[in-house]
Amino acid sequence: MPCPNLILGFETSCDETAIAVVRNGNEVLSSVVFSQHEVHAPFAGVVPELASRAHLERIVPVLEQALDRAHCQLNQIDALAVGNRPGLIGSLLVGVSAAKTLAWTLNRPLIGVDHILAHLWAPCLENQPLDFPALGLVVSGGHTTLMSLTDPLTTNILGQTRDDAIGEAFDKAATMLGLPYPGGPSLEKAAKNGHDQAVKFPIARLSPTSLDFSFSGLKTALLYEVRGQPPWPKDKREEPDPACCPDRAASFQKAAVDAVLLKVDRALTQWHQLTDMTGPRSLLVGGGVSANQTLREGLKSLAQKHSIALRLANSEYCVDNAAMIAGLADVYLKAGRIDDLSLSASAQRQQAQPLKETREPS
Ligand code: KG4
Ligand code: ZN
Repeated sequence: MPCPNLILGFETSCDETAIAVVRNGNEVLSSVVFSQHEVHAPFAGVVPELASRAHLERIVPVLEQALDRAHCQLNQIDALAVGNRPGLIGSLLVGVSAAKTLAWTLNRPLIGVDHILAHLWAPCLENQPLDFPALGLVVSGGHTTLMSLTDPLTTNILGQTRDDAIGEAFDKAATMLGLPYPGGPSLEKAAKNGHDQAVKFPIARLSPTSLDFSFSGLKTALLYEVRGQPPWPKDKREEPDPACCPDRAASFQKAAVDAVLLKVDRALTQWHQLTDMTGPRSLLVGGGVSANQTLREGLKSLAQKHSIALRLANSEYCVDNAAMIAGLADVYLKAGRIDDLSLSASAQRQQAQPLKETREPS
């Protein structure tokens, strides 16, 4: 019997080949994520060319698994969704080509979804509907962004990172500390045995009202903590002292998390100067770093302080997955926002709308 409102989603923006079947926007019938961590681990970071080749090799088996687990045939799918921006262009193209091919052969609608916005849809997967207006926080390997959302279709950027994304900073910090790739989870694990006040790391406040983020100063401070002040001898590179690792990891994690909490607190306090909306009614949080327990605890306290509902994604939907793509696509489909076969992949996110005039230059 055909299942109604079934969307098959593709997500290949970086180093996860992910395909999911989602019903009615939040019922996840299957979500298969094939991580390429072992491909990139020797390089301590994602190698774009290797990533796109690995997507090509895995996309068909991952598709078969996703359909299998959902007990679904291709002809039962009602629409195809794909994360088509932002990301690594070669990787995105694999997902976009697959989704377009199926949309054409099955004669079904095709919906392109911004990967960053999809992260904010993750909190409602296998969960209650989201309440709007909302403040959205995306903390991932490639983005650190604060957004106001009137509804899932109407969003405005309030602040974003000026240099590294927070996940990228975690990954680089882990490398400096001699921890294995991927850095975020291994740094969190190392931090569990450390003292978070052991090293005083800087927190970038920028201007008093700025909602932007910066993690490059923190990263440099950790480098100096590990290697000492430059100049460093050219021919001698000392390994980081493993005995100091837990304290350094815990102190770094605290500084990075506090930097995020500071800006979320500011955005909630300044909400009425920043937007024309009432509320916000909820704080939506997504992206790989939102799996971090220290951040989750900090956000809980902040949400209590501002009497706002906190909506965190379940841990499996924090990192890149295709269920969030298919879920948000359901909203687009119902609103008639459908793409045609000219849909292209883009390394950049959608053009940011201008910020409200009341925001002070930072
Ligand atoms: O959202 P995501 O899967 O990919 C991007 O869209 O970039 O996020 C991946 C990032 C990586 O930088 C990874 O180190 C970080 O999320 N991450 C974490 C944790 N789990 C994943 N960072 C800190 N603590 C974690 N538990
Ligand atoms: Zn992501």
